[in-house]
Amino acid sequence: MVIKKICCIGAGYVGGPTCSMIAYKCPDIQVTVCDRNDERIDQWNSHKLPIYEPGLDDIVKECRGRNLFFTTDMDPAIKEADLIFISVNTPTKTFGVGKGRAADLKFVESCARKIASVANGPKIVVEKSTVPVRSAESIINILKANTRPGVEFQVLSNPEFLSEGTAINDLTNPDRVLIGGETTPEGARAIEELCWVYSHWINRDRIITTNTWSSELSKLTANAFLAQRISSINAISMVCEATGADITEVAKAIGTDSRIGPKFLQASVGFGGSCFQKDLLNLVYISECLNLSEVAAYWQQVIDMNEYQKSRFAGKVVERLFNTITDKRIAMFGFAFKKNTGDTRESPAIYVSKYLLEEGAKLHIYDPKVEEKQIFFDLVTMMPTEDPEGVKELVKVHSDAYSAAKDAHAIVICTEWDEFTTLDYQKIYDSMLKPAFLFDGRKICDHEALVKIGFHVETIGKRVSRSPLLRVMA
Ligand code: UDX
Ligand code: UDX
Repeated sequence: MVIKKICCIGAGYVGGPTCSMIAYKCPDIQVTVCDRNDERIDQWNSHKLPIYEPGLDDIVKECRGRNLFFTTDMDPAIKEADLIFISVNTPTKTFGVGKGRAADLKFVESCARKIASVANGPKIVVEKSTVPVRSAESIINILKANTRPGVEFQVLSNPEFLSEGTAINDLTNPDRVLIGGETTPEGARAIEELCWVYSHWINRDRIITTNTWSSELSKLTANAFLAQRISSINAISMVCEATGADITEVAKAIGTDSRIGPKFLQASVGFGGSCFQKDLLNLVYISECLNLSEVAAYWQQVIDMNEYQKSRFAGKVVERLFNTITDKRIAMFGFAFKKNTGDTRESPAIYVSKYLLEEGAKLHIYDPKVEEKQIFFDLVTMMPTEDPEGVKELVKVHSDAYSAAKDAHAIVICTEWDEFTTLDYQKIYDSMLKPAFLFDGRKICDHEALVKIGFHVETIGKRVSRSPLLRVMA
C-alpha cells in the first residue's frame, strides 16, 4: 500500500496543526481533517482559524483547497483514506469508575466503531491522542471484530509531542517521531508506511519504532517527566524564598550539568495545559489499578506540588494585600496556560482567579489572545455554585494591559507573554492605587526596575527587596 489519502478525526490543537504540517510537507498526499463540530470546521475554513499558533496560518493558507481539506462529512473521508489518525480528545472522566483520574476513552472508541462501520477497504488506523497504556487494544478488538474480505485493519500508536505555542517548529524539527505497532509482518509493514509519510521531511534516524504498548506508555511517561521537572523546581523555589537563594541562579547552575540540562527548569505559578495534569492523573490511576501503590503515590506528589504552588501564589496575593482583598481591584495579566497560545485548559490563571474571586476581589483581566467569552466560560465553569451573572459583575475583560491596571491595587502576572516585559510600568504605576503591588508568577519582569518605580514586588523563588516607599510607610 502507498499512502495517497489521509483522514484525521479531530480538528483540535493536535489534529489541526499536525495534519496541516503533513499536507504542507507531503504535496503528494491528500489530507482531510474531520470534526463533528460545525463551528470548528467553519473556522478552519475561514480567515480566522479556531486556534492561535504562530506560523500555522501561513501553512494552512498554502495547502487548504490544494491537498488539505476540513470537513464535518466524515464517512466519505474515512472511506477514501488509506490511513486514519484518531486525534480526538481524551478528557479525564467526570463520573463513574476512575472519576477525576482515569481517561475517558469514549470518543476514541466511537471513532473505532465509526471506522469499522464505514471502511470498505484496508486501513491503517493511527492512535494519535494520548491514551493510557493498552488503549489500542480496544481499538484493535473493535476493528478486528469487523474485519471482512478486503477490509483489514492495522492499528498503530503515534503519539504527538508538540507543545502549544511552538507547534510549528516542533512539527518541523521534532526531537523524534515515535511509532508503535504490532510485532507481526503486517504490523511492521504498517509502521513502514507511516515512516514513509514522516520521512518526507524527517530523517529516518529520528523515527523510533517500538511495540504498541511502549509507544503509548512513552507518551505518558514523557509528559510525567516534564511535569515532574517543573514540580521539582517549584519545590526548590519555596526553599529559595525561605533562604534568600534565587531560583533563576539555582536553575542555571544545575541546568549546566549536561546530565540535567537547562530545559523545563522555569519555576512558575504552576503548570497548566490539557496534558500534564490529565496524563499524570492517568498514570496514577493506571498504577493503582496495577496494584503499584508506591508508584501511584510517587507521581501523585507531582500533581500535589503543582496544586500547592498555585494556591501558595494566590494566597500570597491576599496576604500581602493586608489579608483582605474584598472589593479590591486586581489586574490579571495573562489568562492562557502559557504564552503564544489562546488555550486556557487547566490554566493556573483560572485557579488563581477563583481563589481571588472567592476572597471578594474584583478582577480586571487582560490576555492578548484569549477571548472574553472563553474567560467567562472558564470562570463560570470553575465556580459552579455562583450565579453566572454574579461572576460577570466581578470580572471585567480588557483589551489592553493599561486599562486593566488603571486604579488597581495590584497586578498579578499569570502568563509569560513577551509584551508584559516591555510595558511602560511607570505609566502603569502612576495609574494605580498606592501602595501598588505586582505579583510576577512567571518571573518575567525586571524586578529591581519595578522596585525603583515604587512597586512592591513579589515573585516566585526569590525575595525582592522592598520598595523604599513601602518601607517608609511601614
Ligand atoms: C488533545 C490530544 O489529541 C490528546 O492526546 C490530549 O490528550 C488532549 O487533547 P486536542 O487536539 O488538544 O487533543 O483536543 P481538542 O482541541 O479538544 O480537539 C479534539 C477535537 O476532536 C474537537 O474539535 C472535537 O470536536 C473533536 N471530536 C471529539 C470529534 O470530532 N469527534 C468525537 O467523537 C470527539
Ligand atoms: C506538553 C508537552 O511539552 C508536549 O510534549 C505534549 O505533547 C503536550 O504537553 P504543552 O502543554 O503544550 O505541551 O506545553 P508545555 O510547554 O509543555 O507547558 C506546559 C505547562 O508547563 C505550561 O503551563 C507552562 O507554562 C509550564 N512550564 C513549562 C513551566 O511552568 N516551567 C517550565 O520550565 C516549562
